[in-house]
Amino acid sequence: MLVVMVGTGYVGLVSGVCFAEFGHDVICVDKDPAKIQTLKDGGIPIFEPGLQDLVKKNVEAGRLSFSTDLPSAMENADAVFIAVGTPSRRGDGFADLTYVYAAAEEIAEHMNGFTVVVTKSTVPVGTGDEVERIIGKKHNPENFAVVSNPEFLREGAAINDFKHPDRVVVGTQNEQAKEVMRDLYRPLYINETPILFTERRTSELIKYAGNAFLATKITFINEMADLCEAVGADVQQVARGIGLDKRIGSKFLHAGPGYGGSCFPKDTVALVRTGDEADVNLSIVKSVVDANDRRKIRMAKKIIDHLGSVDGKTIAVLGLAFKPNTDDMRDAPSITIISMLQKNGAIIRAYDPESMVEARKSLDNVSYAENAYDCMEGADALVIITEWDEFRALDMNRVKSLLTEPNVIDLRNIYPLYDMKTLGIKYISVGR
Ligand code: UGA
Repeated sequence: MLVVMVGTGYVGLVSGVCFAEFGHDVICVDKDPAKIQTLKDGGIPIFEPGLQDLVKKNVEAGRLSFSTDLPSAMENADAVFIAVGTPSRRGDGFADLTYVYAAAEEIAEHMNGFTVVVTKSTVPVGTGDEVERIIGKKHNPENFAVVSNPEFLREGAAINDFKHPDRVVVGTQNEQAKEVMRDLYRPLYINETPILFTERRTSELIKYAGNAFLATKITFINEMADLCEAVGADVQQVARGIGLDKRIGSKFLHAGPGYGGSCFPKDTVALVRTGDEADVNLSIVKSVVDANDRRKIRMAKKIIDHLGSVDGKTIAVLGLAFKPNTDDMRDAPSITIISMLQKNGAIIRAYDPESMVEARKSLDNVSYAENAYDCMEGADALVIITEWDEFRALDMNRVKSLLTEPNVIDLRNIYPLYDMKTLGIKYISVGR
C-alpha cells in the first residue's frame, strides 16, 4: 500500500509514521519547505514522546519519506489522507475548512487511477460531501471515494493510541474504499480492534460527539469539585465512587483547572455552531463551553482568595502546557490563570519541562526558571497547574524552605492532603 499524508502537523505526522510502522509505504507531504527539511534532517517539529525514534526507524527501513511535491507523491497512491489544520474561524467558532478544500483541489488535480481520499482532519458534518464535490468536478465517481476516518489520538500518548485504539471509525459506503481501509488497518486485527463502518456523515459526527462527551465528563466532575468544597466532600473519592460503575467509567473524571488544548475547546464550540445551523439546541454542550471558560477564572480567584491578595507577590507556577508530555500551549488554562493573577498585581515566575518556548508566544512579563526549585526560590506561593511527573514527588521540605511562606496551591490534586498537613504546608487543592 502507498499512503500519502497531506499535512505534517500533529495528526498527519503521527498517523503517517504509524502507518509506516504498520508496514505500508508512506510519503508525508507538506507545503512548508522548512518543515519538510527539518523532518528530512531527522528533526521533529513537535514534541511527542517516542515519535523521533519511530520516524528514524521507518525512514531507515525505507518505508517513510517526506516531500513538498504532492504531484510526484501521488503517482501510485492507494490512499491520500487529508490531515491539514482546521482552526477555529475567527469570531464565529466554525471550523475553518480553507486548508481542507485547498488540499482537495490539489489532490483532484493530480489524482490518477482509483484513489481513496480520506479526511483525517477533524471536520464538521458534511465536509466529506464538499470534498467529494470538489474532486467530482475533475473525476468520474467510479475513480475515487471520499472517506471519513477521524483520529482519537491524545497528545503525549499519540503513538500508543494509534497502535492500540479502542476502535477505528471509517465513514464510507463504497465497497472498494472499505477494502483499502481494511488493508490499511489490518495490523490492528491481531488485537481485535473493532473497525466501525458507518455512513460518512455519521463518522464525522462521531468525532465531535466523542470529544464533546469527554469534555462534558471533565466539566461535570469539575462542578462536583466545587460542590465538594462547599459541602465538605472529597471529589477524588466521588470520582472513584461513581467511576467504578461500569456505565460511567473511571476515565476523564480528574477534577482540575478546566480542559484546554487544540481539540476540546475548538471542537465543542464548533459542535454548538453545527447544532445552531441545523436548528438543534445543544444546550448541554453550550453549558460545558461556558462552565469551562468560567472555571479558569475561578481557579485564579481561588489562588487570590487563598493568599488574601497577590499584589506585589511573586507566584511560582509549575506547569504551563495544557497537559503533561506536550509543549502545546493552545487554550492552556495557565494562560487565563496567569493573566488574571498579573492583572491583580502578581509577579509570575514559571517553569515547564517542555513548553517554555511556546509559552513565550502566549504570555507576557513572565520570567522563566531553569527547574522547579529554581522557580520557587523566594516566591510567596507555589501554584501547580500541569501535572508533569517531575512535579509529583517534589521534596516538600525543600519547597518549604525555598518559599517565603509555605503556600502551595495544587490545581491537579497530586499531593495527599494528610502529608501536606503533617509538613505544615498551607495547601489547597481542587474539590478536597
Ligand atoms: C483529546 C481526546 O482525548 C482525543 O481522543 C482526541 O483525539 C483529541 O482530543 C483530538 O480531538 O485530536 P488531547 O486534547 O490531546 O486529546 O488531550 P486529553 O488528554 O484528552 O486532555 C484534554 C484536556 O482535558 C487537558 O487540558 C486535560 O488536562 C483535561 N483533562 C483530561 C482533565 O482536566 N481531566 C481529565 O480527567 C482528563
